[in-house]
Amino acid sequence: MRSLIDIRDLSTQEIDELIKTACDIIENPEKYSEKCRGKKLATLFFEPSTRTRLSFEAAMYELGGNVLSVSSGSSSSAAKGESVADTAKTVSCYADIIAMRHPKEGAPFVAAANASIPVINAGDGGHNHPTQTLADLLTIYREKGGFNNLTIGFCGDLKFGRTVHSLISAMSRYTGIKIVLISPLELKLPSYIKKDVLKKNGIPYSQTTDLLSVMPELDILYMTRVQRERFFNEEDYLRLKDSYILDVKKLETAKPDLCVMHPLPRVNEISVAVDSDPRACYFKQVLNGKYMRMALILKLLEEAKK
Ligand code: CP
Repeated sequence: MRSLIDIRDLSTQEIDELIKTACDIIENPEKYSEKCRGKKLATLFFEPSTRTRLSFEAAMYELGGNVLSVSSGSSSSAAKGESVADTAKTVSCYADIIAMRHPKEGAPFVAAANASIPVINAGDGGHNHPTQTLADLLTIYREKGGFNNLTIGFCGDLKFGRTVHSLISAMSRYTGIKIVLISPLELKLPSYIKKDVLKKNGIPYSQTTDLLSVMPELDILYMTRVQRERFFNEEDYLRLKDSYILDVKKLETAKPDLCVMHPLPRVNEISVAVDSDPRACYFKQVLNGKYMRMALILKLLEEAKK
C-alpha cells in the first residue's frame, strides 16, 4: 500500500506530476468535483493544526468525498493508551485514506505499516512534514517558474523546524541550488541533514547568524517560527524566540523578486506590515497546500486500487 511518510518517497517525476495535477485543478476545479465521491478521508491529528488539517478536509470535500476527524489526542482512545498501530488498524475499517499528525517522530510510519489504507504524514514531531513541502514546491513553481538555480535562505529554528528538513531534502534534487542557513547557534540545522542530504548531494551551503548580511543574495527567504513545543525549558525559548523579525526595513536590500515564505503559523517572525509587500508569498502557500493535497489524495487513492 503506497503511503507518503517522507518527501523522498516521491520521485522527481511524481512531484512534477502532482504539480501538473494541482495546476489543472486550479484551472478546472469542476473536472475534479466528483472524483472522490463515496470516499472517506480520516484526519487523525494528535497535535494542534489549523492549515494542515483544514486544508486536507477542504481538499477532500472539494473532490466530492467525506471526512472523519480526530482533532486532538485527548478526544480519541489514544488518551486511554491505545497504540498508533491499533488506531491505524481500526481507522482502516472506516476510511479509505488517513492523514496523521503526531508529536512522536515516526508515528505515521508505524501507522502506515499497520494500516490497510494509504497513510499521509501530516507532520511528525521535529522530523518531517512532506505535504507542507508539496505546498512549498507548488509555491516556488508558481512564483519562480521552476526549481533550478535558486539561492534559498532558511531562517529561524532550523533544528526543530520539520518543514525546513523536508524542503531541504526536496530541493537537494534540483541543479544550481544554493542553501543559506540562518539561525542562532543553538538552533542550527541538525548535522545528520547536512551530512545525509546537503553533502551527499553536493549542495553548496553556508551558515550564519546574520540575516541582513545575506539578504541581497537570496531568491527565496523561508522564515520559520521558533518551535516552543519542542523546547525542554521555557527560559531557552524566551531567549531565542525573537532572534529574527522580518520587517519592511530589512527587506530594503532584498531582490525585487524575492519570494518570502513561511509555513505558518507565525508568532512574531514577520511583521504584519510585510503582508502587503508583493514579495510576501506565505498566504499563497496556504492556498497552494490545499491544491497539492487534492492532487496527493487523488494519486494515493488511484494507486490503492491497483
Ligand atoms: N504549516 C502548518 O503545518 O500549519 P498548521 O500547524 O496550522 O497545520
